[in-house]
Amino acid sequence: MSLDAEFANRHNFSAGPGVLPEKVLNQLSAAILEVPDVGLSLLGISHRSEWFKAVVDECCQQIRTLMGLDEDWAILLLQGGATQQFSQVPEHFLRGHTQPADYLCTGYWSSKSLPPARLCGPMRCLWDGACEGFSCLPEPSLAWNPRAPYLHYISNETVEGLQFGFVPGLDEVPRVCDMSSDFLSRPVDASKFSLIYAHAQKNLGPAGVTVVLVRRSWLQGKGRHLPDYLQYEAQIKANSILNTPPVLAIYTVLLVLRWLRHDVGGLQAMAQINARKAAILYSALAHGADQIQVHANKGCRSQMNVAFRFGNPTLQQRFLGEAHAAGLHGLEGHRSIGGVRVSLYNAMTIQSVQDLSDFITDFFQNS
Ligand SMILES: Cc1ncc(COP(=O)(O)O)c(C=O)c1O
Repeated sequence: MSLDAEFANRHNFSAGPGVLPEKVLNQLSAAILEVPDVGLSLLGISHRSEWFKAVVDECCQQIRTLMGLDEDWAILLLQGGATQQFSQVPEHFLRGHTQPADYLCTGYWSSKSLPPARLCGPMRCLWDGACEGFSCLPEPSLAWNPRAPYLHYISNETVEGLQFGFVPGLDEVPRVCDMSSDFLSRPVDASKFSLIYAHAQKNLGPAGVTVVLVRRSWLQGKGRHLPDYLQYEAQIKANSILNTPPVLAIYTVLLVLRWLRHDVGGLQAMAQINARKAAILYSALAHGADQIQVHANKGCRSQMNVAFRFGNPTLQQRFLGEAHAAGLHGLEGHRSIGGVRVSLYNAMTIQSVQDLSDFITDFFQNS
């Protein structure tokens, strides 16, 4: 990798696909030519080989260890992105029910999760932040339905930069959570959940694979009306190798999981690093309070995605242009709300966040 490429990769603040650890990029580029111990290019190894079965097994084992999951949890590596889970979850756990599932609508992505659920059965949107422009999250006490088949919510709204600091809902109602943009960024009390899903392209690897964690005791034969490919049970039976899986994406996930466990030191250590990065950035932004506004209200601001906008659109354009020229990439806000968005995924280093924060502070001072 040239020095320029290294610099650009380190300063990639994109919301996803996002930055990956430099060590992983180096291992991956070597594996594309030749996987150690196999002698073949990663791109030409059969998904039916013993080597690949071991890769899938180790991925699952690493996730189990990192998150402290017991054997009731099945761990799947699926395709179709988080979007497929918006349908696959209600197809398994809502179809045929008379009680509505509870959904929280806290931002752009959770609003996408509602229509597929409505197609499968009764659901109600228990809380909707749209009229507040998705700038805040609900309080813990809502009129939860104790008979709901499940509660669905998104722990981190990637577009607006909102993150739950508590686990919403009732313990007697199964919780389903889309953790796509904060998966493995902090410890999670898995005992509170029945199903967790997260696509890879934020904290885990490249696009193409989605991790689904599901309790076997909750699943119990559900979803048998679905074709095999869409059935969690059939995927569990096939060990996530029901058809041709994305070998490159899954191998990259394994390299990232090894990095997270052995180089970073696990989820507690990762959470401390992520808290430090967010503190550096938010404190730089506080110096520009007369020029910018952070999208999320204090108290629900995300440590993974920080969305803000300048009061003056011309100044914002200048900021984005100068940042790009300085080698700071991926800062444009999502097309639905515009502005600026900084993503601080696991692989983003404290030094790179400091570099961006220094740039922001200089910009505020000189404009
Ligand atoms: C929280 C969240 N959920 C769902 C999605 C949609 O994911 P995919 O493109 O993998 O279907 C995204 C996309 O960024 C997201 O951030």
